[in-house]
Amino acid sequence: MTRDPFDWIDASAEARRRAGLVRTLRPRPAEPDLLDLASNDYLGLARHPEVTGAAARAAQRWGAGSTGSRLVTGTTELHAELEAELAAFCGFEAALVFATGYAANLAAVTALTPSGALIVSDAGNHASLIDGCRLSRAETSVVPHRDPDAFRKTLDGHDGPALAITDSVFSVDGDAAPLRELAAVCQEAGAGLLVDDAHGLGVLGDGGRGTAAEAGLSGAPGLVCTVTLSKSLGSQGGAVLGPAPVIEHLVNSARTFIFDTGLAPAAAGGALAALRLLRGEPGRAARARTVARELHQRLTSAGLESAAPDACVLSVRAPGPQAAVQWAADCRAAGIAVGCFRPPSVPDGISRLRLSARADMTEGDIAEACDVIIRTAPRG
Ligand SMILES: Cc1ncc(COP(=O)(O)O)c(C=O)c1O
Repeated sequence: MTRDPFDWIDASAEARRRAGLVRTLRPRPAEPDLLDLASNDYLGLARHPEVTGAAARAAQRWGAGSTGSRLVTGTTELHAELEAELAAFCGFEAALVFATGYAANLAAVTALTPSGALIVSDAGNHASLIDGCRLSRAETSVVPHRDPDAFRKTLDGHDGPALAITDSVFSVDGDAAPLRELAAVCQEAGAGLLVDDAHGLGVLGDGGRGTAAEAGLSGAPGLVCTVTLSKSLGSQGGAVLGPAPVIEHLVNSARTFIFDTGLAPAAAGGALAALRLLRGEPGRAARARTVARELHQRLTSAGLESAAPDACVLSVRAPGPQAAVQWAADCRAAGIAVGCFRPPSVPDGISRLRLSARADMTEGDIAEACDVIIRTAPRG
């Protein structure tokens, strides 16, 4: 009898079931039937007619796919326009668009850390940055969360290239990195600073220009930012922003740029339209932040435990993984879609409801969402 080569999966599935950590897919209907506090559509642009119209026109004009890698046939005029406008909007010399934000992070980390380099990485960083560190040939040192002094001590005495890596807004609790302090530490140590601004673009900085703009660091020589086009810009894709020589280096050496099919034209066209909307309507970013603060204020006034949001991401602490799953299901049954974060997606092992604020939420939406979350909260 031949042995099932995947029989070990049963044991790991059983362990997952016992720990309350099973994940399931739930296809959503085309017409939203729930009030959405689970997506990353912070500015409500994913279904904006100018964005969807631009995406459809781009597909009709350029094709459903980009047809090849960026260096072969996968670069259209749309990609070039998007890169130029994204760089100008965020205040960087140049930008390079990738198929996902994940790929942009893998590219930035691996291409900017040669063998012999030192990576210093915040313990709360996103999985895509962590995977970039794992793929890099450099040595990685993980330092405590939001601790510029730990970055300083780790960089101190290192001879050779070094890169400090941090999320701008951390995706679990929505807290912001101490960017100015980190930039000062890096400048002093002669290290580069890589900031993943996935949750900052469109939300923080003047008119949503991002966290670097908010910190007065846009275009700083040692700074490279990555962004995603899949959150505030309501599309798909990612980008790296930085000095022109850094971007040229990525074109020539980043494996997720060279060996991956270019971003689909529809996604590039949609992101470009969203970027133009954001530029023309700067109030969207401020409104999204106001909604986040209101959600936090209402939930904590009712006794729920949630850190003050620095952008649009909020987490509400749950007693454990099973309770978090039940709480999210109860919210869903009452018409509210919320995220549910459990280990291993949370570095500290604490399960949470994960909420995102959207600029297009009305006062009625905010009240209704908070009412349901508070009413369904686990007791005790
Ligand atoms: C902080 C952070 N970085 C990177 C990514 C990856 O971006 P994308 O979804 O575009 O691959 C995400 C998305 O989930 C994120 O939250």
